[in-house]
This record gives sequence, C-alpha cells and structure tokens, in this order.
Amino acid sequence: MTQRTLVLVKPDGVRRGLTGEVIRRVEAKGYSLVSLELRTATRELLAAHYAEHEGKPFYEPLVEFMLSGPVVAMVFEGERVIEGFRSLAGATDPTAAAPGTIRGDLGRDWGLAVQQNLVHGSDAPESAEREIGIWFPSL
Ligand code: CMP
Repeated sequence: MTQRTLVLVKPDGVRRGLTGEVIRRVEAKGYSLVSLELRTATRELLAAHYAEHEGKPFYEPLVEFMLSGPVVAMVFEGERVIEGFRSLAGATDPTAAAPGTIRGDLGRDWGLAVQQNLVHGSDAPESAEREIGIWFPSL
C-alpha cells in the first residue's frame, strides 16, 4: 500500500550537516520526496507533535532540544514507507542502533537528558497523517 510518512532531521542532524546524508539514504532506498521545509519549530507545534509524550520525564528536555535550532521537515512517499524509514533510521537509542542504520552509523549518546537521535519518522499510518497535518497543513 502506498503510504506517506513524516521525516524530521532534528536540530542535531541539521547542526552536524547530515541533512543531505539522510535524504541520500532515503532516496537511495527508493522512496520519493514529496515535500521539504527548513524551519524552526514552536512550542505549540511540538506540543501537538509530541502529545503522546507529555508528562514523561524526557518531555521538557525533548521540547527544548527540538527548539534548539532548525529542523528539516519532509514527507516521503512509497510502498510501506513508514516501516521502511523506521528500518533505515534504526533503534531510538543511537548507541544501540544497528550499524547500517542512520542512527547506528551517525549517532551516539552525548550524555544529555534526551536522546539526540538525528531523525524522527512516523510510527504508523494514523500518526503519519496526523503529523503531516501538523507540519504541512496544506498537504
Ligand atoms: P522520537 O522517536 O522522535 O520521539 C520521541 C523522542 O524522545 C525520541 O525520538 C527521542 O529523541 C526522545 N526519547 C525517547 N525515549 C527517551 C528516553 N528514554 N530518554 C530520553 N529521550 C528519549
């Protein structure tokens, strides 16, 4: 089934100049880029995006981290792209993420309160449509 997913290159990825490498890997896998924007998030946008994490111990550090610089928000499309991107991204914890994945090859633990793990990808069709609506209301 053709799907769309929201991919974010988080502020750590943008700061480290890894945006092109992330796009290269996703395009090389065969998914199509349908929208892209460099932008700085707002608290309101992040409250909507991370609603399910509100109240967790890492929520505030996560929001501060996501406000610490611009992110690159993208929509990719393709058959099973949601699962496919998560597989390219690797496990949430970049130290444990398998080599060969974006987080496993390019990320690590920096000893901070939040996992700075370079990228975000929607985890299910419902969250993908919800997140695309938040970041790209016109799509
Ligand atoms: P993401 O999958 O984009 O959405 C939630 C984010 O919270 C996650 O990436 C990490 O950046 C961060 N995160 C998730 N779990 C933890 C945790 N246990 N400790 C710190 N940060 C976390």
